[in-house]
Amino acid sequence: MVKNKACVFISGSGTNLRSIIKNSRDYNFPINISLVISNKKNAAGIYFAKKFAIPFIVLDVSREKFEKMALKELLNRKIKLLCLAGFMKILSKSFIRKFKGKIINIHPSLLPKYKGLNTFKRVLNAGEKITGCTVHLVNEKLDDGKIIVKKRVAISASDNPEKLKKKVQSEEYKAYSIAIRKMYNFS
Ligand code: GRF
Repeated sequence: MVKNKACVFISGSGTNLRSIIKNSRDYNFPINISLVISNKKNAAGIYFAKKFAIPFIVLDVSREKFEKMALKELLNRKIKLLCLAGFMKILSKSFIRKFKGKIINIHPSLLPKYKGLNTFKRVLNAGEKITGCTVHLVNEKLDDGKIIVKKRVAISASDNPEKLKKKVQSEEYKAYSIAIRKMYNFS
């Protein structure tokens, strides 16, 4: 099958990137990761691009320069899907408009609840019994946009932010791949 070319933007550890790369190696997966862009020169996730021989670019520059250079690469390489995976820069409205409907993000809560940072701590402080993760289309508002997939995670009394993060992240890896398949109407 002809796969769609995708790019993943990262800033940190890149465990979602690793999971997407692994799934994309499946013959039936609708995308191929053709490029990884990190906005942090020391992002640990760059290791996975190297390990799996995927072209990567580090753009540790201002948002304006980042977007200009990234856009050039995305267009040159005919990227059809942009996956944000632990990408900690807020993209400008004009960048998002240029890739409208083609940018997806993963957020570690059941959106629309707990948008923004420090979700695990806030979820625990609120005494929630259930949390999870959400993959959604990126629009011009933070952690907003059409929801593609949600996965729920039960919170136990012994959970702390670190434990909860581990539980939620293991669901994130599944959610991201389900969401990508859904984007292309694959079951
Ligand atoms: C994930 O928990 C994701 O939900 C959030 O940032 C984290 C990234 O982790 N947006 P990783 O870099 O994929 O390991």
